[in-house]
Amino acid sequence: MCGIIGYVGRKPALPILIDGLRRLEYRGYDSTGVALVQPSEVTVLKAAGRLSVLEGTLDYDAHPQTHGIGHTRWATHGAPTNVNAHPHADSSGKFAIIHNGIIENNRTLRTYLEQKGVIFTSETDTEVLVQLIAQLYEGDLEQAVRLALREVSGTYGMAVVCADEPDLIIAARKGSPLIVGVGQGEHILASDAAAILAHTTQVVYIGDNEIARITPDSLRITTLDAVPVAKETEEVEWTLDQIELAGYEHFMLKEIYEQPEALENCLRGRIDLKEGVIHLGGLADCARELTQAKRIIITACGTAWHAGLVGEYLFEELLRVPTETEYASEFRYRNPIIDEGTVVIAVSQSGETADTQAAIREAKQRGALVIGVVNVVGATIPRETDAGVYLHVGPEIGVASTKAFTGQVAVLALISCFLGRRKHLSPSAAMQFMKALSAIPDQIRTTLGHADTAEKVAREYASRENWLYLGRGYNYPVALEGALKLKEISYIHAEGLPAAEMKHGPLALITDGMPVVCIATTGSQYDKILSNISEVRARGGSVIAIATEGDKDIQDLADHVLYVPDTLEPLQPLLTVIPLQLIAYHAAVIRGCNVDKPRNLAKSVTVE
Ligand code: F6R
Repeated sequence: MCGIIGYVGRKPALPILIDGLRRLEYRGYDSTGVALVQPSEVTVLKAAGRLSVLEGTLDYDAHPQTHGIGHTRWATHGAPTNVNAHPHADSSGKFAIIHNGIIENNRTLRTYLEQKGVIFTSETDTEVLVQLIAQLYEGDLEQAVRLALREVSGTYGMAVVCADEPDLIIAARKGSPLIVGVGQGEHILASDAAAILAHTTQVVYIGDNEIARITPDSLRITTLDAVPVAKETEEVEWTLDQIELAGYEHFMLKEIYEQPEALENCLRGRIDLKEGVIHLGGLADCARELTQAKRIIITACGTAWHAGLVGEYLFEELLRVPTETEYASEFRYRNPIIDEGTVVIAVSQSGETADTQAAIREAKQRGALVIGVVNVVGATIPRETDAGVYLHVGPEIGVASTKAFTGQVAVLALISCFLGRRKHLSPSAAMQFMKALSAIPDQIRTTLGHADTAEKVAREYASRENWLYLGRGYNYPVALEGALKLKEISYIHAEGLPAAEMKHGPLALITDGMPVVCIATTGSQYDKILSNISEVRARGGSVIAIATEGDKDIQDLADHVLYVPDTLEPLQPLLTVIPLQLIAYHAAVIRGCNVDKPRNLAKSVTVE
């Protein structure tokens, strides 16, 4: 979704802003722009389309300004045109603003300003905000922003500059992330740490309803009511290498291959095989309340929802607590029943997904204990939840979620064992589970070693427009995830199903050579899935089986077999998803799709 970058320092701002915008590209956007400030003049440069379009128009030597702001826009109000791109200037041209989020009362404010003679040039809610700030300006930009925000309802992460106060950026946040990187004689404002890392790892997180006054040498944060807020500078744990391609052709491929290390980082220090316990510091204070939970609701969107569904199976098996997984977008609007003893777990890579945020607010309002399972440290969801566990799998840049999925499943597995031990899980069963979980990173390495088979499968079937993915038990959510991966990056229609549902309708879809991916690892439902495979074959479908190493028999039933190492059934999703990620990746490459930036999709969905 939209991205924000700002720079106040001593170096020319333009290359820094463009580099920041490049690092924000992965979030998805359809226009870009920058505003450069110098005494008595603000220069706005913007263009619809990719960043390269804007770059093609730039003359770096003509812009020595050391202060400025930049934006990648994902259209919400108004089409993705030059005019609607950010920054937006007021009618005098002295002020320029960039803004993520939505000003809900923009129509009322627009009418009010029009009555005062303001002439608008764009259709955006953002222009309303900058025109309002300009109207309220009496020589103090911070005060004008404060007064304007009192009139505004909606969400914002915004930054504004003014030609009369050229060494200053005023930024404010409500529901849309903003971070300030603290450098030597410079500050870098961004909506995402990825845009700051090239300069510093020292950051200050701006909270909701806070205003930041940023100059090269000072950073002051206050509430909307002008009360100073003391802030600690924090260290971002991500490194620059993690957000660069490092020789890979795409971030998605890099992130698929990062999974062994990402999961090592996720599990590090959390599994104590010597003592036979799981350490989850983030849950220590509420462990008792969690253990007493009578019902668990996992809420999330997309891939995170699939991980949540694995969590549902895990919790019911290891805790014996009724658990349901709800789409966050449905949960909040269905008047959910939250009894005493209901715990809500929100799963999110970005920690910013608007629907998931709304779901946790609903759950909190109704009195639930809310836990976050999030990757991005300091994001909105971990700030709003009562407790939580971070994934620690590093930044995920590719729009298609890969390592975050395995990280989410691993964390839910940790939580289930952590709580299971306090309930029904015997020490020996917990030990077996922990050992199996600890072995997963190496087993992913082994699985990635068979990547060539996944590429071969993709090559053979990439031209097919319809695929099915079948799984049972713990592998049913993996079937959903495999189908989602394929459709979102290769635009192939794919459906994931519980294998037994085939005979209740979808079997009618099978035609000669239709690719059907069947997750058929050994376990309690192995024989059943073999019957499902036979049903598919009998109708002429091409079977691509994901099977356990050593299972030679399955070769007689399948057209292709992709092997994964043996593990406990509840942990199989951590391995069986890997070949599905690879098949989707290669299919998309073969079809010439933009793997990291699929059409119509954004990395972080911050609007409902
Ligand atoms: C799919 C994908 C999305 C996200 C979903 C939730 O590959 O990435 O389906 O999983 O938008 O995002 P987060 O996890 O950031 O809440």
